[in-house]
Amino acid sequence: MSPAVLEALLEGRRREAEEQLGLSLPDGWPDQRDEPFLRLRLEQMQRDPGTQPWLVRALVLRGERQMVGHAGFHGPPGAHGLRPGAVEVGYTVHAPFRGRGYATEATVALMEWAEARGIRHFVASVGPSNEPSLAIVGKLGFVQTGDQWDEEDGLELVFELIRSAGPGG
Ligand SMILES: CC(C)(COP(=O)(O)OP(=O)(O)OC[C@H]1O[C@@H](n2cnc3c(N)ncnc32)[C@H](O)[C@@H]1OP(=O)(O)O)[C@@H](O)C(=O)NCCC(=O)NCCS
Repeated sequence: MSPAVLEALLEGRRREAEEQLGLSLPDGWPDQRDEPFLRLRLEQMQRDPGTQPWLVRALVLRGERQMVGHAGFHGPPGAHGLRPGAVEVGYTVHAPFRGRGYATEATVALMEWAEARGIRHFVASVGPSNEPSLAIVGKLGFVQTGDQWDEEDGLELVFELIRSAGPGG
């Protein structure tokens, strides 16, 4: 999602955002939870346009062009106190579309995209009672390495996954 799309979403210009993205937005989105999140991502892109490919992507059903959620990294490699070369994954699937494997599919795709850019070290921070998200990181092979206190979300368990380099790298 580009800065222009995020601005349109935050200013209620839904039709324009839909046209730019080539998709249908879910009713009522962005909601109160996601507005501050989109504002933060817009600020990151405005500070450094080079961060855009690492940040928020729409998850869209093939064919129907319906947006079902969003996923991306919290920042470019090494951002927010992560080790150089590490990225943190984030994902949201809108409630009517949950339980169909979309968050898992998106996270796998994001990680493959990052791996093609030399990234091997992935981080995920998950609330201790967020069972679906805990299931996703577990399935993908993340291992808990610690915990932290997030101003907004409270206690989070920190998971990491380090992929070994493939035959070419
Ligand atoms: C977390 C979230 C993205 C998951 O989206 P999703 O598309 O439903 O996820 P998937 O279908 O890919 O996988 C969910 C997994 O959790 C499992 N799961 C769902 N509810 C569960 C529960 N109560 N207990 C245990 N496992 C559960 C599912 O069975 C599935 O695992 P499986 O494929 O092995 O069966 C979605 O619930 C969401 O957007 N939540 C709000 C935002 C959020 O919490 N984001 C993550 C922040 S770390």
